[in-house]
Amino acid sequence: MHKARPSVTRANGDESRPIQGRRSTPLTRNRRIYATLLAPALAVAVLALAACGVTPQTTLEPTTEAARTARDLLMFVFWAMVVTFVLVEGALLYVLIRFRRRSGDGIPAQTHGNTPLEIGWTIAPAILVVVIVVLTVPAIFSNARAAGPDALKVRAIGHQWWFEFQYPDLGVTTANELHLPVNREVEIQLESNDVLHSFWVPSLRGKLDMVPGRENKFTIKPEVTGTFPGQCAEFCGTAHALMKFHVVVETQAEFNAWLQNERTDRVAPASELASEGEANLTLGGCVACHTIRGTDSAGILGPDLTHMGSRKYIAAGILENTPENMRAWLSDPQGVKPGNTMVIPELTTEQLDSLVAYLQGLK
Ligand code: CUA
Repeated sequence: MHKARPSVTRANGDESRPIQGRRSTPLTRNRRIYATLLAPALAVAVLALAACGVTPQTTLEPTTEAARTARDLLMFVFWAMVVTFVLVEGALLYVLIRFRRRSGDGIPAQTHGNTPLEIGWTIAPAILVVVIVVLTVPAIFSNARAAGPDALKVRAIGHQWWFEFQYPDLGVTTANELHLPVNREVEIQLESNDVLHSFWVPSLRGKLDMVPGRENKFTIKPEVTGTFPGQCAEFCGTAHALMKFHVVVETQAEFNAWLQNERTDRVAPASELASEGEANLTLGGCVACHTIRGTDSAGILGPDLTHMGSRKYIAAGILENTPENMRAWLSDPQGVKPGNTMVIPELTTEQLDSLVAYLQGLK
C-alpha cells in the first residue's frame, strides 16, 4: 500500500534556455516552444498519476450518504464553473478577435456603460450563487442529523500527533485504527486533548474539527467494507502532516471478533526474546506513556499498545506494521516522524530485537 513518494523533477530547468553565444535557428526555437508547452503538461501528468497511484484517499469515491452528498455538491459546482469558464472565455476570445484593430482603423466610437449587459452579468452569477445555496443548505442539515438510539458510539480524541479511539459502551480503547461494522449507524464524538485537530476520512465524510473543550459530533453509516485512509486536516504543529489514521469497515462478525480480541489483556510473550522485550519496556521508559493491559505499563500519554501487533500501521498511520518498520521507528523516532514526542533511549541491537519481537506479538 505504502509507496515511496514520487520525486517530482522540475521539467523546465536550464535546458530550455538558449545556449549563450549560439544563434537561435528556427529549429532550436521550435524545440524551445515545444519544451515550454510540454513541460507543464508533463508535470501535471506526473502529479495526476502520482495522486491516483498512492492512495484512494479521495472525496470522489464516497462510501456513505454523507460523503455522496458532498461529492454531488462538489461535482455540481465544478461543472457549473466549467460552463461559466467556457462561456466567459469564449465571449472574451470572440470579442478580442472579431473587434481587433485593423490597419487603417481610426479611433473607435467611444461608449460608456451598457445597462442591459451590466444587469445581465450581475444577475447571472447571483442566480448561480442562489442555486448553490439552495443545494448546500439541505446538505448541511442532512450531514448534521442526530444518531438513532441504536447507533454505535465512538469517542475520537486528537492528540499531538495521533488519534485515540474509545468505544465507551463496549469498554475498548485503541489508537490510529478505527474499526466500524458495515451498514450500522455510528455516532463519532470528536474531542481534542491539546490543540485544534480535524478528523477527515474523505470517503466517509467531509472534515470536522476536533476542538479542545468542545464536543463536535457527526453520524455516518458506512456502506462498503475496506480500509479507508484519513488524516488530521487542521494544522496542529510539527508532525501535523504525519498525523494519519485508518478506518477499517468490516462485517458485523469480523467486528465482533475484533472487539472480543480488543477486550482481552495482552497476549503473553510467545518466545524468550519476546519476554525480554516485555522486561525491556521498563528499561526503555515505555511504561511511562503507554498502556499494555496485563503488564506494568499503564501510561496514558501515548497510544494504548495492548493489541498493537494486530494493527495494519504504526506511528499514527504512516508506516505499515512490519518488523523492519517497527525497528526503524524504535531506533530513530525523530527521523521517521520529526517532532513526535516519543522519548526513547538509544537501544542495543539485542534490546531492539526483543522489543520488536514482543510488540509484533501483541496481536
Ligand atoms: Cu492534528 Cu493536524
